[in-house]
Amino acid sequence: MTGRPASGRLSPIEQLGPDHRRVLVNLPERTYPIDIGAGIRRTLPAVVARLGARRAVIVSARPTEVVPDPGVPALRLPARDGEVDKTLANVDALCSQFAAFGLTRSDVVISCGGGTTTDVVGLAAALYHRGTAVVHLPTSLLAQVDASVGGKTAVNLPAGKNLVGAYWQPSAVLCDTELLASLPRREWINGYGEIARAHFIGAPDLIGRPVAEQIAASVALKAAIVAQDERDTSLRHILNYGHTLGHALERVTDYTMRHGEAVAVGTVFAGRLAGALGRIDAARVAEHLDVVRGYGLPWALPAGIDLAALVDVMRLDKKSTGTGLTFVLSGPDGPELVRDIDAALVVATLADMPRSTPA
Ligand code: GLY
Repeated sequence: MTGRPASGRLSPIEQLGPDHRRVLVNLPERTYPIDIGAGIRRTLPAVVARLGARRAVIVSARPTEVVPDPGVPALRLPARDGEVDKTLANVDALCSQFAAFGLTRSDVVISCGGGTTTDVVGLAAALYHRGTAVVHLPTSLLAQVDASVGGKTAVNLPAGKNLVGAYWQPSAVLCDTELLASLPRREWINGYGEIARAHFIGAPDLIGRPVAEQIAASVALKAAIVAQDERDTSLRHILNYGHTLGHALERVTDYTMRHGEAVAVGTVFAGRLAGALGRIDAARVAEHLDVVRGYGLPWALPAGIDLAALVDVMRLDKKSTGTGLTFVLSGPDGPELVRDIDAALVVATLADMPRSTPA
């Protein structure tokens, strides 16, 4: 018993040139490419021409020069990355500006920014004319490896995150690794949290590999999972490895812990919990800490964290169908959703986690 995932879960990675790779998200009627590499955003005019769009609206959280001229008349609109801007009011404002520009259902919307920007622009494209093509140019590592791939779009309500959204697959995603060069260290950590969790759901060992290879493999894993379960009814849940505790840590720390940091700690915890349940052996449990540390990620619970508060928040996890505790855990048949885990065991495993030293 090792708890290793079944092999063969990655979609093929096609080499487009010395520095460019392509992964296809194979869906019955809307297969689309994720192109990865340095300078890949400069292929935007060819993507727009392939779509046959005659106009484009570019919504960008980055300076104008980041998004190349799409080769058709274009309206450029500013955006701001951040959860506070993921609102229905912003979707309304975007759609009104699409209409004022005369964007038709056969034209294209282009989003450029982090995952919060691709989320809100993706939802506006999903709703405008009941669905207008959207091309994402994600600029953060997190958005390149996860958020911009797979068609989940959403905005927040005062009652919670991502409560209003739609599945709307992009027509193409251009992951330009040149755009990552200026990211601050915490942004890299944010993305590496998702890459580390990918190790436990079917990605190969990517520690120390070039970032374009790390992105391509993470995307290839996600593409294969989304192709099998676009609407998140079963297999797609495994993308939330490490996320039950991760989301709770974000919430309990008032989001001072970034998503990737929290998912990294949640991944270490998921390994320990699976070990405590006898689902994986000690070597596989230890591998969780090795991988998380190997990516330079945090692995300890913040000092002074209230375990009872964490458990209360975890009971509300979106994967849970009742009030039981639900986690994605490794096991003899690979990672899977495990429901109704004994709260006392969860608390005991949390209590055993390493703690970071107070600042
Ligand atoms: N980020 C998880 C998913 O796309 O399903």
